[in-house]
Amino acid sequence: MATPELNLSTLKDREILVGVTGGIAAYKTAMLVSRLVQAGAAVSVVMTEHATRFVGPLTFQTLTGRPVSIDPFATPEVYQSDHIALAERAELVVVAPATANALAKLAHGIADDLLSTVLLATTALLLVAPAMNVNMWNHPAVRANVALLESRGVRLIGPEEGRLACGTVGRGRMAEPEDILKEIIVMLGSRAQA
Ligand SMILES: Cc1cc2nc3c(=O)[nH]c(=O)nc-3n(C[C@H](O)[C@H](O)[C@H](O)COP(=O)(O)O)c2cc1C
Repeated sequence: MATPELNLSTLKDREILVGVTGGIAAYKTAMLVSRLVQAGAAVSVVMTEHATRFVGPLTFQTLTGRPVSIDPFATPEVYQSDHIALAERAELVVVAPATANALAKLAHGIADDLLSTVLLATTALLLVAPAMNVNMWNHPAVRANVALLESRGVRLIGPEEGRLACGTVGRGRMAEPEDILKEIIVMLGSRAQA
């Protein structure tokens, strides 16, 4: 359902790349992608191999009308490598959900799959929506990685307190798709259309 106060027109014809990693919250990302597409954004999705265990690429392919990219060594549609084409085309990249693994790789510059490579290759605006078990979120390694990313100006949204998929209660739930959508609008609103 549309939220009246959202300036959805900001999203029209904007190139957005959605990165999906292997957490249970990946199912919520389908709603985010649907809302972006309905608002007129041009959306590409990159999934990690583990993300495909949670949600089928066909879901995102159908919602976006574009092929979903997973394998960095797949034959690209054009002469340019997929990771470079995707990285350069995007005005904004949102990673939702972002696993502890994805945060660690981004913090330390590890590029061992398509999504992590795109994240290093892009100069687009970046929004990261972590989601994980509360003990993972509180682990000193994750705390240090989050601090490192924030110190570099990476914008994080959530995670939120609540009941987690693993049955525990605490901070670790991915931010709601509607809140991620609002943040994307704010971030794109502050940058003129490319
Ligand atoms: C059922 C299940 C749920 C998981 N949920 C999460 C999660 O919410 N957050 C997280 O950081 N890892 C989660 N994991 C672990 C990640 O899938 C694992 O660390 C994986 O290597 C992440 O790979 P990726 O970052 O390349 O997608 C989950 C694993 C399973 C089997």
